[in-house]
Amino acid sequence: MSGETANNRVRIFDTTLRDGEQAPGCSMSLREKLRIAKALAELKVDVIEAGFPAASPGDFESVQAIAEADFGPIICGLARCNPEDIEKVHAAVRSAARHRIHVFVATSAIHREYKLRMAKEEIIKAASSAVRMARDLAEDVEFSPEDASRTELAFLAEVVSAAIEAGATTINIPDTVGYTVPAEFDLLFRYLNDHVPGIDGVTLSVHCHDDLGMAVANSLAAVHAGARQVECTINGIGERAGNCSLEEVVMAIRTRGEFFKLETGVDSTRLYPTSRLVSSITGMHVPRNKAIVGENAFAHEAGIHQHGMLQHSSTYEIMLPADVGIKRSNLVLGKHSGRHAFRERVRELGFVLDEFETNRAFQEFKKLADKKKDIFDGDIEALAMNIDNASAGPWIMASLAVQTQSDQPASATVVLLDESGSKHTSTASGDGPVAAAFQAIEQLTGIELLLKNFELHSSSMGEDAQGEVTVTVEHDGASYRGRGTSVDIVEAGSQACLEVTNRLLRRGQRANSGPDARIDQARI
Ligand code: KIV
Ligand code: ZN
Repeated sequence: MSGETANNRVRIFDTTLRDGEQAPGCSMSLREKLRIAKALAELKVDVIEAGFPAASPGDFESVQAIAEADFGPIICGLARCNPEDIEKVHAAVRSAARHRIHVFVATSAIHREYKLRMAKEEIIKAASSAVRMARDLAEDVEFSPEDASRTELAFLAEVVSAAIEAGATTINIPDTVGYTVPAEFDLLFRYLNDHVPGIDGVTLSVHCHDDLGMAVANSLAAVHAGARQVECTINGIGERAGNCSLEEVVMAIRTRGEFFKLETGVDSTRLYPTSRLVSSITGMHVPRNKAIVGENAFAHEAGIHQHGMLQHSSTYEIMLPADVGIKRSNLVLGKHSGRHAFRERVRELGFVLDEFETNRAFQEFKKLADKKKDIFDGDIEALAMNIDNASAGPWIMASLAVQTQSDQPASATVVLLDESGSKHTSTASGDGPVAAAFQAIEQLTGIELLLKNFELHSSSMGEDAQGEVTVTVEHDGASYRGRGTSVDIVEAGSQACLEVTNRLLRRGQRANSGPDARIDQARI
């Protein structure tokens, strides 16, 4: 067993901004990434993997911005085993007080033969020299043998030994394709503990994908076998079926403390707000029955369960909603509620807004209260999460009127405000009210968007519940997601369309403005 097993602290390494962002349609703007990085720091994760700087100028820029903001956790960047990648990571993360270079190379026979066309000795050499170079630049270096779970055990031990000898301080074992099962992964970790010299002196880490739905179970098996760092993402977002879910692994270690005898440094009461933030930014909705943060995770319908719960909550509840930051109440706000009550509720729901953001959210609250009698927690969450969008411009929606009549094309009149506050009006028709509103927005902004998907979720209760719309649109062959929330579905969809339009326009402005023009077009 690694010497780290004596230590009962499991480090949480969040890769939402790197592996999570790789999920289709999950790319985020710099501003959104900074918001998530701040939330991850409030959640008290140990490491934030902020991106893959060599992947694009936009990735470099966002890793650098997160390192400069230096919210507290170790800031890490990913590199392949080559000098250019490693230098880029170093340049991007170096301004964070605590930073890490993470280098990886694939080790399985399939990857060696078909992807890298490299012999075993070449892989070992590449790993050693990359780790050595990274160690010359940084104290904290992580090495990952990609596709470790499908690598011959003896060769895996050889590569890992070479990386440790070259100076790696963390050894991460990825189940890249989500192939392993808990009992097998337990054996793999025990094998490494028995066969790798010097393993006691490094932190052993685990990184699982969820292709067979076992990412959390496999990560916990690794922890039980000695791993003291878990790589995971909020809501388990990530390529294909996703990564190990941070909230599930953290709550498993906490709730089954008497079994694991381990702890993380995570503030579990920040789990729910962070989950909502990531879901709102990426447009990836959390399924209702998702463990820990799903809407039904703490709902008890069955009569027999409700009876038990009334006697004592522990009959059917192994965690309390408050443990994960769900502080729902039946308290309803309305148009007579004051700023103080609003601010308190936002705070109780786990959102940390500054004075400017609170003012903006309160203005939006007042507008909503004119349209909707009762304002529930779901409405307030939607307001708090959408403040970035509401204030981001250059176009702001002033009003929208739609006309529909069966057997007739729908028509929509949109009034937008430009940056100087001047009003611009356009009317268009379309196959339905959404198509008509999109067309009218396009006429004013000049940005053509092709609607590919329109998803609607209710963000609160009652007949006048707000609709949270996520649209997926195409522009110049690239795909973008936008979000909008309103009591009117067409208006929510139009806001979502305008959000993408504004993002594209801001991208154009920055691309044309001198030194900042190197920003990655696809990720603004
Ligand atoms: O899944 C994987 O193998 C990875 C590595 C780069 C750590 O994401
Ligand atoms: Zn991965």
